[in-house]
Amino acid sequence: MAPALGDQSAILQDEMEELRARLCEAEETLEALRLGDVDAVVVNGSDGPKVYTLQDADRPYRIIVERMQEGAVTLDPDGAVLYANRRMAALLRIDPDRLIGQPFPRFVAAGDRDRFAQLLAESGQYGVRSEFELRAADGTDVSVSVSAVDLPDQGQRIISAIVTDLTLQKQQNRDLADMNAKLLATMAEQERVESKLREAQKMEAVGRLTAGIAHDFNNLLMAVAGNLELIQAHAMDERLLRRLDTSQRAIQRGAQLTYQLLAFARRRTLHPAALMVNDLLRESEPLLRRAVGDEIRLVLDLGDDLGACLIDPTEFQAAMLNLAINAKDAMPAGGTLTIATSEGRLDGLINGNDGSGRQILVSVTDTGHGMPVEVRERAFDPFFTTKEVGKGTGLGLSQVYGFIHQSGGHVAIDSDVGVGTSMRLYFPRTAAVGASEAPAKARAMPAAADARIVLVVEDDSDVREFLTETLETIGHTVIEANTAPAALRLLESGVAVDAVVTDVLMPDGMSGFELASRIRRRMPHTAIVVTSGAAAFSAPPPEAIRDIPILHKPFRRDELLRALDSALDQSKASA
Ligand SMILES: Nc1ncnc2c1ncn2[C@@H]1O[C@H](COP(=O)(O)OP(=O)(O)OP(=O)(O)O)[C@@H](O)[C@H]1O
Ligand SMILES: [Mg+2]
Repeated sequence: MAPALGDQSAILQDEMEELRARLCEAEETLEALRLGDVDAVVVNGSDGPKVYTLQDADRPYRIIVERMQEGAVTLDPDGAVLYANRRMAALLRIDPDRLIGQPFPRFVAAGDRDRFAQLLAESGQYGVRSEFELRAADGTDVSVSVSAVDLPDQGQRIISAIVTDLTLQKQQNRDLADMNAKLLATMAEQERVESKLREAQKMEAVGRLTAGIAHDFNNLLMAVAGNLELIQAHAMDERLLRRLDTSQRAIQRGAQLTYQLLAFARRRTLHPAALMVNDLLRESEPLLRRAVGDEIRLVLDLGDDLGACLIDPTEFQAAMLNLAINAKDAMPAGGTLTIATSEGRLDGLINGNDGSGRQILVSVTDTGHGMPVEVRERAFDPFFTTKEVGKGTGLGLSQVYGFIHQSGGHVAIDSDVGVGTSMRLYFPRTAAVGASEAPAKARAMPAAADARIVLVVEDDSDVREFLTETLETIGHTVIEANTAPAALRLLESGVAVDAVVTDVLMPDGMSGFELASRIRRRMPHTAIVVTSGAAAFSAPPPEAIRDIPILHKPFRRDELLRALDSALDQSKASA
């Protein structure tokens, strides 16, 4: 039975719809094909399904090439762009469509174009690779690596190139190089600081050892010198007196040695005053001239407006003399010694002080034989000398080193073999300017003293014996104690004592300073004299007893008596 008319019209309607849909589909497909978006299409035509294909197997590669992170470009032998992927266009900051047909070398930096032409000429079937600088359409420079190879079997020559952006890699390389350089600098700085620390620790250890030796040695000298003096007082025989004189001179030499040792150990008691270095140098000039002799020209080159520094004038002169003698020894055939002053700057921490402040620089420069590295590195060590036996003790530069460091300054050596040596001495500046301390006026030795009761506190029995005998010879009564606590017990037991002569460093946990402070508090009218073998004060004397005279061992009889006399005078005045 034929379908009803209404049904037929509905069927026709459906077929129409389907045909329209296929037409639409076909148009879309054609458009897609035209744009290259689709590689193959199956169309169901009236004579069955028909496949429109574009080499199906290449499709994944086309997608990869289009989407990959490297630029891809195919060029003709002259460099005209036949194809470029999206990344290539992005690298050159240009619309992909506009890139096709353009000469690629246009985007190569002018300086690299010849090399690029060579790359195109030589690509061949195995390919070549090189780095170039590209200039993008907006003027940006892009570093790239280009690998080019000839595409095979194309009839005519076609070159395919992969272009990799090196910007990030180059930046990373630069960052890495920067980091490396910083690391190397940090390591070098650390090495420098460590070696300075090792040097400082070595000097500190040697300093402590030296101070200890000097202290004991001074006590020995003291005992020998004291006893010699006592013998001298009684000796009549001319020959014996001469021998005694010679012995005393040997003791003076020994004392000089311990003095230098203490200077190195920074344990000398300095008497700094705010002084103009230029004045000190002008005053020392005649002495320095005599020290270097006529063969050597001495030049003073003193800067202006340098201001003052806190400096012990005697130690300063000793340091200058040591340097001048070293310079003279380094110039046996004559030469020039220049002492110059100027404003100096030191950066960074020096001896724990902020060395970046304003310093006064004293440089002592000779035209002598200079020092090889191994001498320069050890020159400040005590007893280091290159001079023949009997010529040098190796303590000259040790004194310079100790003195400058104790003054809060810094010393450095510049030296080249065959050229000469320059010693740089930095002293921190000070605001105050005053006159240097006037040297103590020599006073006549007291011939006969009023008889007094003197308490001698000294742990070294030889020294104690010398003190006692010296004091007793001129009529004093002496009470002895070998430690500070023993002395205190004596005093507290009610013995009336006019004066106390005490050593600083003693066993039993109490120093002479502490003993002196206690006596000051309880018996303010007792005269006190402090004696010291090393002036090795780990702490300076307390404020309350700063006025008490300190006698440095080895001292002579007359020095002891004078100190005691002045302490007694003082206590009488305060009573
Ligand atoms: N101006 C200089 N030129 C060349 N070498 C020097 C100079 N100053 C010092 N030296 C070297 O440094 C060493 C140590 O010097 P330092 O002054 O401490 O001792 P010394 O001169 O040998 O003996 P001392 O000074 O105790 O008589 C010297 O032996 C010398 O080798
Ligand atoms: Mg010397």
